[in-house]
Amino acid sequence: MIHLIPESFIEDLKSAIPIDSVIAPYVALKRAGRNSKGLCPFHSEKTPSFTVYSDNGSYYCFGCGKGGDAITFIREVENLDYVGAIRFLAGKAGLTVPETPGEENASRKRARILEINREAARFYHDCLNSDIGKNAREYLARRGLGRKTIKRFGLGYAPPGWDSLRGHLRGKGFTYEEMHIAAVVSKSTKYENSCFDMFRDRIMFPIIDLRGGVIGFGGRLMDGTGPKYLNSPDTPVFKKSRNLFALNFAKSQQSDLLILGEGYMDVIAMHQAGFGNSAATLGTSLTEEQARLMARYFRRVVIAYDSDSAGQNAAKRAINILGQNDVSVSVLEMEGAKDPDEYIKKFGAQRFGLLVGGSKSAMSFELDKLKMRFDLDDPEDKVRFLNAFCLMMADVESGIMRDVYIGQITKELEVTKDRISAAVQSLRKKKQNAVNKRETHNLAVFAQDKTEPSRKRPENPNIGGYLAEENLIALLSAHPDFYSEIADKLKARDFFDEGHRQIYKALSGRIAESLPLDPIHFSAQLTPGQMSRYSHILAKGREIRFERGQATEYCRIIIDQKDVRNSREVGEMPAEEFSRYITSLSSKKK
Ligand code: CTP
Ligand code: MN
Repeated sequence: MIHLIPESFIEDLKSAIPIDSVIAPYVALKRAGRNSKGLCPFHSEKTPSFTVYSDNGSYYCFGCGKGGDAITFIREVENLDYVGAIRFLAGKAGLTVPETPGEENASRKRARILEINREAARFYHDCLNSDIGKNAREYLARRGLGRKTIKRFGLGYAPPGWDSLRGHLRGKGFTYEEMHIAAVVSKSTKYENSCFDMFRDRIMFPIIDLRGGVIGFGGRLMDGTGPKYLNSPDTPVFKKSRNLFALNFAKSQQSDLLILGEGYMDVIAMHQAGFGNSAATLGTSLTEEQARLMARYFRRVVIAYDSDSAGQNAAKRAINILGQNDVSVSVLEMEGAKDPDEYIKKFGAQRFGLLVGGSKSAMSFELDKLKMRFDLDDPEDKVRFLNAFCLMMADVESGIMRDVYIGQITKELEVTKDRISAAVQSLRKKKQNAVNKRETHNLAVFAQDKTEPSRKRPENPNIGGYLAEENLIALLSAHPDFYSEIADKLKARDFFDEGHRQIYKALSGRIAESLPLDPIHFSAQLTPGQMSRYSHILAKGREIRFERGQATEYCRIIIDQKDVRNSREVGEMPAEEFSRYITSLSSKKK
């Protein structure tokens, strides 16, 4: 993507707001020689491996492999896009981001979409309260939603006609094109230049972001004549994977606990029952971005998904993703009801509150599920269960936790605790040995490569070539003057690793134009993931002393590896495919 923030502004930003001062509000940094270190904000750790390099304005975590420049850092912790992060930093530095024509257009476009959405929400809400909304009002009343709740969530009703909203928005001066970008109308496939209301005869749920903007909608049918919900697709103001329904309300509750529901109706029912600290994903399974977003505002998350198997599987995935973000996760077990909405209706808010208060930790939840798979009155099944239980415990890192659960189960099943503990210990030892073995192997192969976290390695590493790619990038970043030795010999597409390809493209482009090479200048072109990779290479490169001539050597290795790859691939091809391959080569040449 091309951003129109001028290079000179990035330079201003770089000198106005040094990386240490960008990171300091989030991480307690301690000087360590020329750099500083702290506990990584992106993964949980006890000894600091998050390193900040003031000299080139970058950071890198040797524990989880995240890295980048000031802009990437803000993108990641504040969950912003590239331009958003620049605005954020500019705000701190007291600078104004220059509005280039393209920029101005983009931000004006966003503002227009937000206006359309707000106007649409108002329109739907008015429809709900007018004659046309009678059915919808009755439906909501049947579902137990009061007037206050309807108003608070800005619920509405989209009339059945094809052009109700379209006509309304037209009257307010919005164009069809704008409505289409906001995704409140669909383009007609039959008639050119024509469009119709996207949501018809549906209960409307506006989705509101943390700044209070209406960014999209969910629309529920009141009968079963089609898929229950229709949701806004992603638009310039709406990314499903980055937002949670009702987080805008939940965030302002004074609570460190969030109840995570599965959908609109559950969350609204919970809010109405007094649980304002609840939110939901938007009809998709939980994403990393959503987990990080939750972790920013809450320390504990209680998962309140449907009690059917789909809901429970989704809960399992959610536990994993949330667990990586340093929030404590527990799971609600609702007996006698399929979801929070039904539970509250059947048993009342108070009992739901007790359930939340006593919600089981993710571990006891897993354990209960394991138990259900066995008939514990049958001696053989009991043994099978204990085996599975030991395997499960062997994966638990906390000794206290292991002790608690082993104690509980052995008491319950009336078996000797010592024996089970010993079995778990021996399994852990075996596991540790396997890990050690793998690590020694890795160390032997990557003897010069202490910094690369092993899980970041490609699946089938073409080791020599991969290292040569990294080293060449590190070398050129430190000695751009060596570039002329290889400029004609190597192209970005010769690189094996896609990330390296993108980094080399950016790097060689900047060197060729004699532009500054601080990492901050790369974040317009590289994704946060690629920035992490680049920071890793730079951090590692600090320990290498490069000499002239090495660039040519790395370049040769990279090209050799590529030839080996090609010949192997060609060798394995059936005749027919081979002839296609040859044709493709000759067509590429022109
Ligand atoms: N969902 C969706 N599309 C569907 C079904 C579900 O996007 N066809 C999403 C919605 O965000 C919904 C959530 O998944 O809120 C949970 O689905 P479900 O439990 O079926 O809906 P509820 O919101 O609980 O609605 P209701 O109680 O009226 O069935
Ligand atoms: Mn439901």
